[in-house]
Parts: sequence; C-alpha cells; structure tokens
Amino acid sequence: MYQTVRYEKQDNIGILTINRPEALNALNSTVITELEQVIAQVEQEEKAGELGCLILTGEGRSFVAGADIGEQCPFDLTGGRNWGRRGSALMRRIEKLEIPTIAAVNGFALGGGCELAMCCDIILASEKAKFGQPEVTLGITPGFSGTQRLPRRVGVAKAKELIFSGKMIKADEAEKIGLVNAVFAPEELMNGAVEMAKSFTKNAPIAVKYSKACIDRGMQMDIDDGIALENEMFGMCYATEDQKEGMTAFLEKRSATFHNK
Ligand code: COA
Repeated sequence: MYQTVRYEKQDNIGILTINRPEALNALNSTVITELEQVIAQVEQEEKAGELGCLILTGEGRSFVAGADIGEQCPFDLTGGRNWGRRGSALMRRIEKLEIPTIAAVNGFALGGGCELAMCCDIILASEKAKFGQPEVTLGITPGFSGTQRLPRRVGVAKAKELIFSGKMIKADEAEKIGLVNAVFAPEELMNGAVEMAKSFTKNAPIAVKYSKACIDRGMQMDIDDGIALENEMFGMCYATEDQKEGMTAFLEKRSATFHNK
C-alpha cells in the first residue's frame, strides 16, 4: 500500500523501513507523506497498547541519505521554511512517541537521515554506517532540527565541528562521540536491534514509558523540577497492576507477566 516505506510487526515490535533505495532513501515529499501516515498508525497502535517498541531502518545500502536535493533545489524562502517546518514536525512526532524507538542505521545517515536517527531513543549502527550533516556544503543549514538535537546528543563543540565542516564520520567514531550506542557487523544489525527491542518489551510497559517521559521531559527542566516529575511518575507506577505483578512475582520467585495495566 505504500510506495516508499514498509511497516511490519514482529509480535509487538514495529519495524519501519524507508524503502526508496534507488535514491538511497532520500526523503522526498512522498516519503515524508507516507512516514506521516505510518507514524499516525504507530500512534494509534501505541495508544491501543499494541506496540512496545519501534525500529526504524533503511532498505539497501543507505539508512537515509538526506532530504531529496532535486526536490528542494527550486524552493524559495517560503518553500524552504515550510519544508523545514514539515520535516521538523514529523521528527518531533517520532521523538514524542511514548514507546522506546531504535534507529538501526544500516548505511548513510546524512542530513535528514542523521536527524531522523536522532529522533530515536537509541541509535545502533552497522560497521558500514556513515553519519553527517552535510547541509552547509549545499548552501543550507540542517533543516529537520539537527542544529538542536546534535548538540544535545554529542555536546556543542563536536556538533559545531560536524555541522560547520559537513564531514562524514564512520560508525566507530559516531560511537566514540556518543551518537551511536553500539556497532554491529552488517548482517547482525537487525538481529541486534530486535534483541534490544525485546530487552525493553519484556519489562512493564507503563514503567518503561514513564521512564522515557521522565528522561525526555526531565532533560529540559532544572534538576529539582525533574526530580519532582520522577517522584510523581514513580508514585503513579504504584497505581498499576503491573507493579503489583512485578513485585509479587519477585517475592514468589517466578517471572512476571505484565499486562500493560
Ligand atoms: N537527494 C536526492 N537524491 C539522492 C540523494 C539526496 N539527498 N542522495 C543520493 N541520491 C541519489 C543520487 O542522486 C543517485 O541517483 P542517480 O542514480 O539517479 O544518479 C543515487 O541516489 C545514488 O547516489 P550516488 O551519489 O550515485 O551514490 P554514491 O555511493 O556515489 O554516494 C552519497 C553516496 C550518500 C555520498 C551521495 O549520494 C551524497 O552525497 N548524497 C547527498 C547527501 C546529502 O548531502 N544529504 C543532505 C541533503 S539536505
């Protein structure tokens, strides 16, 4: 039903693949429209408690080689601004999913591709992956919020070096600067991503979601407000059935069965 993306489920793990390999999965308006549609579906499934984790990856030898340069070239000021706003809104929607998200970066993650990976909680990379924000080599700034997320991920100085130079870095360097959580042999990447997803989905889903909310919202607050938020959400866990089940199972020396309640 989609032309440029694929969305599959393995139990309660969603796998979203950008599927425009002839253009190294560059984000043109069709890809963006289809991503908006898939993310709407993901939001529904999340709300219905059917999804525990989302993995994003790319078909072929690229994750996403940026926004589509051919499509953007003729933009004027308004066109550029609208494109940036639309892409940034999509990235923010992905970032605001309540479930954990993992980018499984199989190849190039450049420009909008690096920005898409940075919307995810975790970035895993193939040894063949390459990261970069090459926009200034094209006469533009990063447009899908890379100037905001890269410094938050790797620190201001490293982000400035990468954005001002537009250079590409390999997976091992991306891991060294903290952009990437772990590097895998190419054939092991998806397996590694699914295994990590399962290590999240086996736990109490509400506790995982609350933990994500505390981290993401807390990082934008001063520490006292962040601690107050954690106190609130910690307390809310005790109003869940899964807390009773988790602790009772421990005391009864059996494994817990969580029901997302
Ligand atoms: N927009 C549109 N098309 C793109 C693209 C992009 N961002 N990135 C790659 N493509 C297309 C190429 O035009 C080419 O199409 P063609 O076969 O019709 O000529 C195809 O994907 C394969 O890319 P190619 O450049 O031939 O592969 P390569 O292995 O030599 O180089 C890259 C790979 C990623 C280094 C190179 O494609 C590149 O620099 N892409 C642009 C990256 C970028 O600046 N992104 C930020 C955009 S804002």
